Amino acid sequence: MVKHLKREIGGIEWTGRGISIVDQGALPGLVKRIELCKAEEIVQAIRRLAIRGAPAIGAAGAYAVALAVKQATEERWGARRLSDAMNEIGNCRPTAVNLSICVQRAALKVPFGFAAVLNEAHAIVGEDRTANRAMAEAGADWLVSLFGDRKLRILTHCNTGHLATTGGGTALGVIRALNYRHMIESVYVNETRPLFQGSRLTSWELMNDGIPHQIQVDGATAGTIVGGYVDVAIVGADRIAGNGDFANKIGTLGVALACDFARIPLIVAASTSTIDLDTFEGDCIEIEMRDPTEVTKWPNCDITPEGAIGHNPAFDVTPGRLVSAIVTEKGVLEVAAGQTPRGVGWGYTKSPTHPRGNL
Ligand code: MRU
Repeated sequence: MVKHLKREIGGIEWTGRGISIVDQGALPGLVKRIELCKAEEIVQAIRRLAIRGAPAIGAAGAYAVALAVKQATEERWGARRLSDAMNEIGNCRPTAVNLSICVQRAALKVPFGFAAVLNEAHAIVGEDRTANRAMAEAGADWLVSLFGDRKLRILTHCNTGHLATTGGGTALGVIRALNYRHMIESVYVNETRPLFQGSRLTSWELMNDGIPHQIQVDGATAGTIVGGYVDVAIVGADRIAGNGDFANKIGTLGVALACDFARIPLIVAASTSTIDLDTFEGDCIEIEMRDPTEVTKWPNCDITPEGAIGHNPAFDVTPGRLVSAIVTEKGVLEVAAGQTPRGVGWGYTKSPTHPRGNL
């Protein structure tokens, strides 16, 4: 069932002293693993997107809490310093819900010591890997039920694979599962401005798996979809609100609008850990604003006139009514036009037993 998932090349590994990650800033030119042994090193790596993607930063955040606990003992931190460190970890990127949730999970284990926090971080990784496999199969099955077993032309945005998770990926996991079933004609990979997660990272992952794809500029999205070159768009999510609105990498809203216009399905693949029932609707999601020079300079040279001002929201919010289905590890929630998601366990009210409801 999961044979098609090759070794997770991006994955976060616990080394015994800290975590080892592939430095995503160096890809695709250089595949460089770096070891991060202090909480603040992980925070920095998350901020500069050396490690990125909602599930991956959630897991890294949990390991950062474990390292903070270790540092607190070794360096004789007081309770205040440890709590400040945990706040900094949980808030170093605001949009993806996974980071704050995983940090909260790890924080609950702090009274039981370093080993307990570390085990919680390992558990988060294990759950994410399992969820990735399940959603890949669920998404592929659902697409077979929709299209039969014909080869598909897919469009995806940003990077949602090994590098963005701790397993085979969310949207890219579904694409991998389809490839294993010989159901991919081609994947249009949006380059994803401003940091090129699509052309640098997704293409690198697809190359490694031998999946046929073409990279296009984000501005080509509407033309490619409305022109009839795409059967389905599959994207990930950083936070899904209770009404089905979701935040994802900037440019996703444009993909969704084009799909709606062309009447082709838009599929969101994300584990239930990305669903935030405490956030009622998309307007309540905080959008990370990043350094404007990510827009005005690349890599270290100006690509705009001197003094030009950049505008750099990292994410946008797509209304849930533009989503055809949300693929999770627990199954596929179909969203009828103009409605919020329905399906087993979807609820708006907070569950007393689970921070994000009772999915
Ligand atoms: O800023 P990033 O690169 O961390 O953003 C990640 C994304 O927006 C991805 O597209 C994604 O769907 C979430 S991670 C599976």
